[in-house]
Amino acid sequence: MTSLVLRGVRPYGEDPTDLEITDGVIAAIGSDVDTGGAEVRDAGGLVALPGFVDLHTHLREPGREDTETIDTGSAAAALGGYTAVFAMANTDPVADNAVIVEHVWRRGREVGLVDVHPVGAVTVGLNGEQLAELGTMARSQARVRMFSDDGRCVADPLLMRRALEYSTALDVVVAQHAEEPRLTVGAQAHEGEQAARLGLAGWPAVAEESIVARDCLLARHTGARLHICHVSTAGTAEILRWAKAQGIQVSAEVTPHHLLLDDERLSTYDPVNKVNPPLRTAADTKVLREALAEGVLDCVATDHAPHAPQDKDCEWSGARPGMLGLQTALAVVVRTMVEPGLLDWRGVARVLSERPAEIAGLPDQGRPIDVGEPATLTLVDPDARWTVRGAELASIAANTPYEGMELPGRVVTTLLRGRVTAHDGEVHA
Ligand code: DOR
Repeated sequence: MTSLVLRGVRPYGEDPTDLEITDGVIAAIGSDVDTGGAEVRDAGGLVALPGFVDLHTHLREPGREDTETIDTGSAAAALGGYTAVFAMANTDPVADNAVIVEHVWRRGREVGLVDVHPVGAVTVGLNGEQLAELGTMARSQARVRMFSDDGRCVADPLLMRRALEYSTALDVVVAQHAEEPRLTVGAQAHEGEQAARLGLAGWPAVAEESIVARDCLLARHTGARLHICHVSTAGTAEILRWAKAQGIQVSAEVTPHHLLLDDERLSTYDPVNKVNPPLRTAADTKVLREALAEGVLDCVATDHAPHAPQDKDCEWSGARPGMLGLQTALAVVVRTMVEPGLLDWRGVARVLSERPAEIAGLPDQGRPIDVGEPATLTLVDPDARWTVRGAELASIAANTPYEGMELPGRVVTTLLRGRVTAHDGEVHA
């Protein structure tokens, strides 16, 4: 039996205790655990949370290994406290068939730092015209549980209806990138005063909200479960509140950047701030934080989107949208939600681990910190302050919008089924 004792750890930020891990499982909790023969680690003062689950990660493999690979993305995930990530389908070639999703799944297992779950595309080649073979991907070795054309919206209502119908039969979830494409042609920034001042073509809130409203009604009509990616507007939160009150089975994620950053940052025209959906107004971020605290928004998902320097260090209109997120998510949640008193550590566990695991149907992630449960854990130093440096992050790309920013809360250790995958800034493969 291989045992590890974490001494003085604070589950969910509560009183310090010792936690014994044997063969990947939490074997005992309390002040009197038997340390005989075990490796003992001092975890005094560290908050223990269930390992984080990211429903929205771009790992870029296959196709853009110059910006991220399953290897480097897994390292960034483990260092960020993640034990499971969902790898989006907008790779090259697109993950719209069993061969690609099995490749991603297998590489994830070989790297072994985090459970990598491939997301399958809803439509062939993300073309929005023909449904991909959802059943084949769901039944493949990779057992695809989530389908999304993320990066693009499934705009055709009939295709979306069919995808939702199939998803119920397969017991999977469709995650929509809500963006009515006719309303965002040429869009560069949130449509509002700031975009007008800067002379950037607007991406109106209604382009998101109209699709969210439509898809909630389609979810009601089909009885399917629906997930909304990267919610960015106050209006979307209002629609979701209404839909949930009707009993419609809809869940939603918000990104760290939409909780912290707003379109005031665009005044420098630095494309590091370009993202899709765009940074909205300070009034939106306030409503998104409150909606997350209330549970109208279910979870935080990073939309970790690595890009090459030539696609970011260029003029605004030519830059690709997206920003890194895996290694900064916890700190941004502490800054936006914990420090202002909107979430306690139980709440952090809910939005970063428990709800995303439930939404995706992962049986062994997001579990309670309890005897007999998998030792899949993240240990956080709640008092640490650190300065973000893109060049020091594990991703190949360095496009972080938090460059030079001091943030609170640091992931110290990540454990996947009892194995330390990251500790003190180093990964352990
Ligand atoms: O900003 C974004 N970048 N939003 C998306 O939906 C796609 C992503 C990417 O793939 O770069």
